[in-house]
Amino acid sequence: MNIEVKNLAKTYGPQKAVDDISFSVKTGEILGFLGPNGAGKTTTMKIITNFIDKDNGDVQIQGDSVSTGNFKKNIGYLPEHNPLYEDMPVMDYLQYCAELQGVAKSKVDQRIREMIKLCGLNAEKHKKIGELSKGYRQRVGLAQAMIHDPEILILDEPTTGLDPNQIVEIRELIKRIGRSKTVILSTHILPEVEATCDRILIINKGKIVADGTADTLRKQASSNVITRLQISGAALNDIRNKLGLIPGVKSAQIMDLDSNRIEIESDHNIAEVIFRTIVKSNWVITEMIPVETKLEDIFRDLTLN
Ligand SMILES: Nc1ncnc2c1ncn2[C@@H]1O[C@H](COP(=O)(O)OP(=O)(O)OP(=O)(O)O)[C@@H](O)[C@H]1O
Ligand SMILES: [Mg+2]
Repeated sequence: MNIEVKNLAKTYGPQKAVDDISFSVKTGEILGFLGPNGAGKTTTMKIITNFIDKDNGDVQIQGDSVSTGNFKKNIGYLPEHNPLYEDMPVMDYLQYCAELQGVAKSKVDQRIREMIKLCGLNAEKHKKIGELSKGYRQRVGLAQAMIHDPEILILDEPTTGLDPNQIVEIRELIKRIGRSKTVILSTHILPEVEATCDRILIINKGKIVADGTADTLRKQASSNVITRLQISGAALNDIRNKLGLIPGVKSAQIMDLDSNRIEIESDHNIAEVIFRTIVKSNWVITEMIPVETKLEDIFRDLTLN
């Protein structure tokens, strides 16, 4: 199911929590929502799930507004503050959620079993939710979001509180689900968004400041190419000076004299010319690494103001 967010806005008092944002997500796509604390991620997700109302704009699913259409059974939502019933045992809670979401009576037990397995809840399934550790509560939250096998999953920081093993499993699960469904997730873990998402949306102070794949964001952020080299065969200063004369080179710097490392910044990819120059000069090259702009740097650039 396709989601279309159009000119969405939400104001709390004097503050624009969501300030005229538009984007769309298609079936089979996993969209990663990034942004500093208070950027408006949770507010946007709450509006998409019809948990709160917008002030302006609209969110449409398959062309129908979420505020008038009934999409409850199509959407699975893991809220940021997972409102779990402390006194309920895990199994009873999942049964309650399944019934609430309209899972057919004949399928409820099977769905609960599947979710228990999928979210690694077997050892804790008879405990009361109030007795669970933070990570297990998060797993129960994920299980309730997916219990009715919805077409759309909105996950607000799904891996927060999970141990590293479970993080890997949940990421794999989200990727698998994302092949046939529509997923929006928020996270503060930048490598996670690269590992899991097809597309990244960076939001800052309620506005979208970037929308694209990690690769396109990198290309937009930096037009310069950095290449790291490890070279021997002559004095490093001489090597640096000669490489610095290659057309397109903006700077050539010695990074480490002891390990013969030089870093070259150029306005386009000149790897081939560097290599030929080295061979012609009879130097020895043991390392040549193109350095990618880090997602962290892009994030900081776009959101630190
Ligand atoms: N119910 C509310 N009343 C008043 N202000 C609110 C309310 N909900 C959110 N806000 C404000 O709206 C802004 C956006 O909050 P939101 O929770 O959407 O941010 P976020 O991007 O999810 O941040 P975080 O990364 O910390 O989860 C914040 O400044 C927040 O204080
Ligand atoms: Mg939030």
